[in-house]
Amino acid sequence: MCGIVGYAGGKSAAGELFEGLKKLEYRGYDSAGISTLGGGSIFTIKKSGRVEGLAPRMGELEGCVGIGHTRWATHGEANDVNAHPHIYGSFSIVHNGIIENYAELKAELSAEGHVFFSHTDSEVIAHLLDYYYKGNFAEALSLACSRLKGCWAIAALCKQFQGFTVTRHGSPAILGEGEDGFFVASDMYALMGRARSYCILADGDIALVTPRGISIYDGQLQPVARNFSPLEWEEEEVGTGGCPHYMLKEIRQNARTVRATCRAFASSGCGGQCSRLKEADKIVLVGCGTAYNAALAAVRLLGGAYECPVSAHIASEARYDPPRVTQKSVCIAVSQSGETADTIMAAKILKDGGAYLIAVTNVGYSAITRFADKVVPVCAGAEVCVAATKSYIGQLACFHMLAAPCAPRVRCGALMKIADDIERVVSDGVYAANIASLCVKSRAVFFLGRGADVDVAVEGSLKLKEVSYIFSDGYPAGELKHGTLALIDESVLSVVLICDESLCEKSKTAVEQILSRKGKVAVITTLPHIYAELSARVSAAWLLPCAPSHLAHFLSATALQLIAYHAAVMAGRDPDKPRNLAKSVTVE
Ligand code: F6R
Repeated sequence: MCGIVGYAGGKSAAGELFEGLKKLEYRGYDSAGISTLGGGSIFTIKKSGRVEGLAPRMGELEGCVGIGHTRWATHGEANDVNAHPHIYGSFSIVHNGIIENYAELKAELSAEGHVFFSHTDSEVIAHLLDYYYKGNFAEALSLACSRLKGCWAIAALCKQFQGFTVTRHGSPAILGEGEDGFFVASDMYALMGRARSYCILADGDIALVTPRGISIYDGQLQPVARNFSPLEWEEEEVGTGGCPHYMLKEIRQNARTVRATCRAFASSGCGGQCSRLKEADKIVLVGCGTAYNAALAAVRLLGGAYECPVSAHIASEARYDPPRVTQKSVCIAVSQSGETADTIMAAKILKDGGAYLIAVTNVGYSAITRFADKVVPVCAGAEVCVAATKSYIGQLACFHMLAAPCAPRVRCGALMKIADDIERVVSDGVYAANIASLCVKSRAVFFLGRGADVDVAVEGSLKLKEVSYIFSDGYPAGELKHGTLALIDESVLSVVLICDESLCEKSKTAVEQILSRKGKVAVITTLPHIYAELSARVSAAWLLPCAPSHLAHFLSATALQLIAYHAAVMAGRDPDKPRNLAKSVTVE
């Protein structure tokens, strides 16, 4: 949430920062701002709305050093004043995270005569720098941070220092070295194509970044050597790859995500984790949102493969009411970003309780990877659309591999085959568009299924509501008659998933119950006989490639992602940046 960039080098900072902010916009897009340093003065522009809104005023920014920010509001509404950077005295700061004790610090500094301008928690950092500065910028930052409670990544300018400082505590900050200068960013994506090497700043470290280089100090302000690693990335990771939106590009990468994830599982020795799971007294999964929905699928897959109990927990609940674990338990934390605050807290609590911690994550350098006992990589590449798509598919692939202790090669072969089928689903865009057009004409959309189809229904509902803003819900088809049937009429669409032969007769009953109340129905199935029976009687039907029921979720989830995407576009929404949301929820 929120994005930070900083640049010090031989080029004009304004252009570098603007480009960096555009790449980071998916991290928050309520407001944006830039401060640059030139000739001992700080120049600042900031505005509510998207980064593009800064373009007309870029000419006001001078100098080769600067910091920038794109915001997802936590404290104070999204307006020009609350936008970062925040300025006080000789200082300009940008901040990601939350300062929990800002109100008491504000009261203390106000009593000293400081005047505050914004309603943010972040502004207090600029005031603390002013308060503690006695000619040593790093020392002032260290003292300022010693007063903070919460989590932060901070980049700051000082009129008296030809460069910027960076520090962090719980929020990501990555330093980059490029040909024409030095960078900081809260996300590797902003460094791709600009930095040759990177270093993840450690909590408590302070970096001084100037056009001549980067020096890093530890919490006691002693110089420390930190390793820079080559920044490797693929050209196609950046940009929409010719698609109108990242969301479509990323759904089209579902198949390659499955293939890459399977290969990485084998090559990174993850198979050994299966013995750990075999010996476990219980397996508990934690995650939020889509990652939690993937954990629901994992419960079925791992539950079928191992004898111990397997359960999935919403991380924001589990951290306050954690399931009991022992030294023999395994916790699997599921997180695309590896930075989600609730998931990190829940995982830490379970690890502290004795559980062995496996992180299933798409970001190999993320916070969760630093304290997990083992990382099982999801190889989806950069996921820029706020709504998770290919990372969910990659998480499913990880769980299939973890659920195959005896025959990993056979499972891998089956996943390679399903990847080909995913490509077939993606090429059937016309079916998705047809069902999407029914969605946008409906007052509400319900997603129903039985067995493994329920998990996909829940995820499909989340996807539709977040990108199209159409009300939707996902639940077991058998529950229809226990309440939701009261909502069914001709203005409501029910999307019924039928991908399990053993449950298809029961799912058909739900279709009949809806049709007899004049509700609209769209059927998505991998079963040709179901398609033949129902297609003429429902508003839309989509026959997916045939697949065993335990693998069908790759196909039905891809279908529902495409439907959500088309519905968002038809409803005139920006599927990549849904209102009020941002990628990677690093605040609690
Ligand atoms: C929905 C979505 C969110 C995330 C959730 C967890 O499309 O993207 O629900 O799944 O915020 O994020 P990660 O997986 O980064 O922990």
